[in-house]
Amino acid sequence: MIRSVITGTGSALPVRRVSNAELAVTVDTTDDWIVERTGIRFRHIAGPGETTASLAADACRAALSAAGVPAQDIDLIVLATATPDQTFPASATKVQTMLGIDDCVAFDVAAVCSGFLYALQVADSMLRSGAAKRALVIGAETFSRILDWEDRTTCVLFGDGAGAIVLEARESDEREGRGILAAKLHADGRHNALLYVDGGPSTTGTVGKLRMKGREVFRHAVNNLASVMGEALAIAGLTAEAVDWVVPHQANARILDATARKLGLPAAKVVVTVDRHANTSAASVPLALDVAVRDGRVRKGQIIVLEAMGGGFTWGAAVVRF
Ligand code: UT7
Repeated sequence: MIRSVITGTGSALPVRRVSNAELAVTVDTTDDWIVERTGIRFRHIAGPGETTASLAADACRAALSAAGVPAQDIDLIVLATATPDQTFPASATKVQTMLGIDDCVAFDVAAVCSGFLYALQVADSMLRSGAAKRALVIGAETFSRILDWEDRTTCVLFGDGAGAIVLEARESDEREGRGILAAKLHADGRHNALLYVDGGPSTTGTVGKLRMKGREVFRHAVNNLASVMGEALAIAGLTAEAVDWVVPHQANARILDATARKLGLPAAKVVVTVDRHANTSAASVPLALDVAVRDGRVRKGQIIVLEAMGGGFTWGAAVVRF
């Protein structure tokens, strides 16, 4: 059978790294509060020359090099972002140009923090249908540009960055072969008001700032993430015992702990980068995946579960034999 196989990963972070203590100089907060409530210690903040597309292109170059695939062989780019360089054109087409790819399919996907899971399932469907052969699937964000730096309940939580994978259609053994084994997505727009941006081209004509009722989002996150991981594992015909690594959306260390506990997974099987990167929205899953691949934790043939939940609400999970 044909499956979509992850053949390379890459990531990119802005040069400037900001500690909690540095934030506390201008924001009414403390290192202790941020660490205790979220597990975050650092985040990277994009400088003037760094944009969602430039970070995405850097992550793609690293992923292409890891996969040994020349950029010209890519025929599909799906970029998940809620912070595109411009309202249009799609930032995916900017990435295409930055990589020197003459012709391919390129578009953005907007599902906020779950964006990478959405982009992954779209790309997987296109690869398995034969519409494309080699894709770059990217999560990239510059949330620092939509934060209200006067609002301490949100501005300490987010960071900027990008992660990318090369996803290739490959012949794969039905029982043991590598590739995406299952994916499940959800959305429930009744919760728009719990996590949103208070502006947009068709309403205010402005970019707007991020607004979040954190405590309510937290409550939904643990339940939704545990249940969608269970659904994706069931589609793959696997149980939690088969999982080698969970690579979750990095919003809050307490959410990661509570979700793993709900599924009966040991914390040692959860890849955690929220301490270093904070919440990078759609970038957080591919960023964490790249970290765990490069430090040797995630290896070929292992079962990994990717999961995320964010604004909308949207949420989803995917099971991959890496
Ligand atoms: O990526 C999309 C998904 N997003 C998430 O998953 C985020 C989910 N939510 C969370 O991670 C947590 O709810 C937060 C980290 C946002 C907040 O943690 P919490 O334990 O739910 O705190 P809280 O909102 O209940 O606030 C507790 C207290 C409040 O003070 P009072 O009312 O108890 O006096 C806040 O004013 O902490 C105060 N507070 C702060 N204090 C210092 C809120 N933000 C800060 C801050 N520094 N930055």
